[in-house]
Amino acid sequence: MIFDVLIVGNGLTGMRAALAAADRNVTCALVSLVHPVRSHSVAAQGGINAALGNVDPEDSWERHAFDTVKGSDYLADQESVVLFTKSAASHVHELERFGTPFSRLNDGSIAQRPFGGAGAPRTCYAEDRTGHNLLHALYQQCLKREITFLDERVVIELIVKENWCLGILALDLKSGELETLSAKAVIMATGGAGRIFAKSTNALINSGLGIGLAYGANVAIKDMEFVQFHPTTLHGTNILITEGARGEGGYLFNKNGERFMQRYAPTQLELAPRDIVARAIETEIVEGRGIEDSFVYLDLTHLGEKKIDERLPGIKEIGFRFAGIDISKEPLHVQPGQHYTMGGIDCDAGCRSSIPNLFAAGECSCVSVHGANRLGGNSLLETVVFGEIAGSNAAELSLDIEAKSKDRVLGESKEKMIAKIANFSNGAERVGILRTELRELMMDKVGIFRDEEGLAGAADEIRNIQRRFKSISITSAERVFNLELITIFETESMLALALAMSEGALKRQESRGSHFRTDFPVRDDVNFLKHTCALYTPEGPELSYKQVEISRWQPKAREY
Ligand code: FUM
Repeated sequence: MIFDVLIVGNGLTGMRAALAAADRNVTCALVSLVHPVRSHSVAAQGGINAALGNVDPEDSWERHAFDTVKGSDYLADQESVVLFTKSAASHVHELERFGTPFSRLNDGSIAQRPFGGAGAPRTCYAEDRTGHNLLHALYQQCLKREITFLDERVVIELIVKENWCLGILALDLKSGELETLSAKAVIMATGGAGRIFAKSTNALINSGLGIGLAYGANVAIKDMEFVQFHPTTLHGTNILITEGARGEGGYLFNKNGERFMQRYAPTQLELAPRDIVARAIETEIVEGRGIEDSFVYLDLTHLGEKKIDERLPGIKEIGFRFAGIDISKEPLHVQPGQHYTMGGIDCDAGCRSSIPNLFAAGECSCVSVHGANRLGGNSLLETVVFGEIAGSNAAELSLDIEAKSKDRVLGESKEKMIAKIANFSNGAERVGILRTELRELMMDKVGIFRDEEGLAGAADEIRNIQRRFKSISITSAERVFNLELITIFETESMLALALAMSEGALKRQESRGSHFRTDFPVRDDVNFLKHTCALYTPEGPELSYKQVEISRWQPKAREY
């Protein structure tokens, strides 16, 4: 199959990119493990940020930009943030025209709620199922334009020769066939790497395979040590409990009935940025003020049933179904869990990677607009802003060039992969066990609180798991819906990314945003106001550093 633009990933980012490409009349297709409405975007709850000023008329894109930069602990590239926040309102209005059923204020305008780290109620929402609603709206637009979806395929290689991406190699899970798809331009829109951690809000598909594919193709990945832990995930399952619950007025309590955020963020309390609230909850638990040493209470009972039914029906349902709790009568049990990968494929504000025809957008990319800590509500915005940019730029490029037909290379790649699968024969190790060990290790040593001993130990242990990975066996070499085979592809990539996260974190001897070193608890702008870049080598990541663009706001201490 040959396309002008090939998009890997069919969530919000991928679909917005496809619409931009289709508007330029180029051929495009989206390739993904799952059907589009099962992509992880569906799980986004609380909303999408845009300074519409519907609740606070004084709000502006400049205030949104400043909040984003401050929330990022000054690691975000500031002109990219300006581009991002300036275009937010037009994107939200476009989503409205595409058919998103946004919640409304009494005057009929789009409703906006307060979110963490935001100086105004800026988060536009559709109840607490915003991702679900946006995803369906974009899917309808794609259907209208008859865009090609190639679902239930796992991409196993980006085929790169002489710094040019010729296409991809994918395994069709239904037929078991290996397919080569060539394209003039390829966009990675594969989401984050949350499942590298044992406790995560992310879908099972979020292994970070897309980031790993680019990394393996000699593309730099950036700022991988910055991993966001959402403060409130349901104790036990780690299902997301939206920040919108605190935006609507929810309180956090410890086992002594104390509203403990007063000690950590006296002004913004529960609506401080996520890194601060997650650390506060973890501190309460570690210091013995959590309940059963593992969670705190999120109390919504005072909101009343009417407000809960109107604004948080999804959270009410999750409380009932997964915890047996009626949130209008009892508090939810919550604990932090991995939620978002701030790092990703290194690219510029045009979503261009170091390979001229390979683009990246959304959570798998690192532009960077989130720096060391993303604000809630900026992720959905990122999908449409950078999805559109990636789709436009990839399409424009494809209009300018002839396809480089390299069928021989594509064929070779396929043969190599068939041989690789056959090689997982009768070793002593099982991939599921290695993956579980990795996820527990990352949670334990590369989680909310980090130190030199833990990080160095994690890196050693990951290298050890990589050695053991060479002796895995596979139960069946069958290629039709062989989930063990997919787990093997994913785990190999997860190990490489986990090493980049651990070694990046080990070298960063400071605390900034989500990266907190108990042995270096202070931010160090003299030595570490810089992005970490990692290039893949078989021995581990080769790290280098890149300047942060500070064009408008000089770094200051963050107070909330
Ligand atoms: O809490 C939430 O609803 C998550 C939003 C986000 O990650 O942007």
